[in-house]
Amino acid sequence: MGFILAAVGSAVGLGNIWRFPYMVADNGGGIFFLVYLFALLTAGIPIMILEFGIGHKYRGGAPLSFAKMSRKFEWLGWSQVIVCFFIAVYYVLVIAWAMSYFYHSISLGYADDPSGFFYNNVLGLTEGPFELGGIQTQLLIPLAIAWAINFIAIYAGVKGGIEKLAKIFIPVLFLMVVVIAVRGSTLPGSAAGLNFMFEPDFSRLFDFKVWTAAYGQIFFDLSIAFAIMITYSSYLPKKSDLTGNAFTACFTNCGFSLLAGIAVFSILGHMAHSQGVAVQEVAGDGVGLAFVTFPAAITTLGGMAPLFGMLFFLALTMAGLTSLISINEAAIAALMDKLDMKRKKVTVVYTGVAAICSLVIATGAGLYILDIVDHFTNNFGIVFGGLIQVLLVGWIFNLKSLQDHINSVSEIKAGSWWVFSIKFITPLVAGYTGIMTLVGDIKVPYEGYPQEALLVMGWLVLAVIIVGGFLLSRLKWKNEIYLIEGVKDNVR
Ligand code: ALA
Repeated sequence: MGFILAAVGSAVGLGNIWRFPYMVADNGGGIFFLVYLFALLTAGIPIMILEFGIGHKYRGGAPLSFAKMSRKFEWLGWSQVIVCFFIAVYYVLVIAWAMSYFYHSISLGYADDPSGFFYNNVLGLTEGPFELGGIQTQLLIPLAIAWAINFIAIYAGVKGGIEKLAKIFIPVLFLMVVVIAVRGSTLPGSAAGLNFMFEPDFSRLFDFKVWTAAYGQIFFDLSIAFAIMITYSSYLPKKSDLTGNAFTACFTNCGFSLLAGIAVFSILGHMAHSQGVAVQEVAGDGVGLAFVTFPAAITTLGGMAPLFGMLFFLALTMAGLTSLISINEAAIAALMDKLDMKRKKVTVVYTGVAAICSLVIATGAGLYILDIVDHFTNNFGIVFGGLIQVLLVGWIFNLKSLQDHINSVSEIKAGSWWVFSIKFITPLVAGYTGIMTLVGDIKVPYEGYPQEALLVMGWLVLAVIIVGGFLLSRLKWKNEIYLIEGVKDNVR
């Protein structure tokens, strides 16, 4: 139970509440949802099973597990860990914004001018990615709180910290989002919002952007292909039903996305209704959907507005924290394995470095930098990381040995459907969408950002992920005994 809650805690995050609704809005409503379901079945669940199998069999963080499979694979583990580092550095800021909104919901501080509130008061947004505009001091307290909670949970260890926090946060989180969804869907106009979410625009079925967004979202959303689930499953007891756990984690996560989507779109539908406009007109604000459009929608709820504002932003904060912890644990566990160092020491050093780096995103240019880093880490770092993972494990490594391991402990067997997904469907779709996005990005600068900014905050980040992965894999293991399968397991 502790494992399932921690895994769900990792999966359910900003991806479900902040990212999922605007992905739906930007990618044709219901059609995105259908492709997303396809991605869940053909990539999400199979890769989750694969990662649970790898972590459980090799009992290490991603680099150690891959190194045990073949020393030639270790770099992939490190590349995934570096992806985690970059994500953590911006992810924590979105949590800090949510905390700040939680506080301001008490007095509905954002009610008069939601857009001005977000861009000026919270972000202190400058004119462009190179115009840093100094650290925004209003973000420092929430940022410090977010790092402190993250630090305490990881420092206290898997059982004493991470699992305990997940056991409290996850049920509370579900309850809060159910309350918002129920209230939202009983409001006048909510049906139009839900129609917008579920009605498929079939003309976009073959639009590769929809496929890229859905696959990218599934990877990010389920915390797969960036070291996390391998790390978490390395703590599982020997007798654990791997496929059963994978199905539970995936369906719970996607059920939660659905719930969060219903909560957000029903309230947006209500706002559109009270303004007498179409839902499309209020829903298209990308990254700002949760922080500009939704706060505006909340203010239409009358006397209950502060309560629903607080509920929504507390849910966002809690979901974000349990995911942030998993993102950092993936990196911390990898360092503990490689350096043979104690959890507490690594946690202090790693958190200190990551917290200092996150100050860059707390500047007035933070939103631009976040947007670029998010685009490159997700669409290339994670998607290509996942692609290489299925190619290496599916085609070069002996997949059958992993399948046998998974089936020896699981009730639902990973049969030929699983092998087919890992070997063919995921590589084909992830490869196609990844390459199309890459070509698109080379041809047209992402979101029209200046080339220099994309070079430094995008392509360079990607280069660090790849080259850094290779370099770290070249470093000597402090204690090579960990590399021998079956010897000195579960050192953490
Ligand atoms: N899976 C996490 C999320 O959805 C990273 O936010």
